Amino acid sequence: MNKNEFISIKFDLVNGLIQWYTRKYHIKLSELRDYAYDSNEVDKLIMEKGDYVIYEVYEIERPVVEGEMIFGVTRIFPGVIGQEYNFTRGHYHVNKMAGEIYVGIKGCGLMLLQDLQGNFFTEVLERGSLIYIPGKYAHRVVNTCDEDLVFLFAYPAIAGHDYELIKKCGFKKVVLNIEGKPTIIDNPKYNK
Ligand code: PA5
Ligand code: NI
Repeated sequence: MNKNEFISIKFDLVNGLIQWYTRKYHIKLSELRDYAYDSNEVDKLIMEKGDYVIYEVYEIERPVVEGEMIFGVTRIFPGVIGQEYNFTRGHYHVNKMAGEIYVGIKGCGLMLLQDLQGNFFTEVLERGSLIYIPGKYAHRVVNTCDEDLVFLFAYPAIAGHDYELIKKCGFKKVVLNIEGKPTIIDNPKYNK
């Protein structure tokens, strides 16, 4: 990285690896228990296979002040939790003025979007997708293919992540593997 105020790093556009980041974290199966379509399947899988990593995030942190941006790369490993494809927790931004950009680098899946009025949308997120998410939409990504789903993200540092609302209300729909095909069904646990 340059030793000045700019950040200029190597970014491998094939596998999404970034050469430098300030924070790396991962989310394991057990941490998705409250977000899953069927939490019994989470418990069952942990008993069978242990508590493995579902996705990892490489982030370049910046000061949380107006004008700054946080950016990085998320990698969701392929797989299912029962019938449900591996997914990110999903969140609303606390600051509803703060939008976000996602760029698909590798693999394929779906982005789920919903607002507080109960409007729900899906967008394909795959290598070459560019999605702008206005600040009012909660966003989750689901890996529906059998390879890693990797995407770049960038958002205003003042956005803030609200996970509690998603934990409590869920997304309106879930993406299940039904007879080998990604199928979007109503989430029976969704409560607005
Ligand atoms: O801010 C974003 O939207 C991303 O950086 C996500 O935080 C990241 O992909 C992990 O997803 P989540 O925060 O929903 O667990
Ligand atoms: Ni976000």
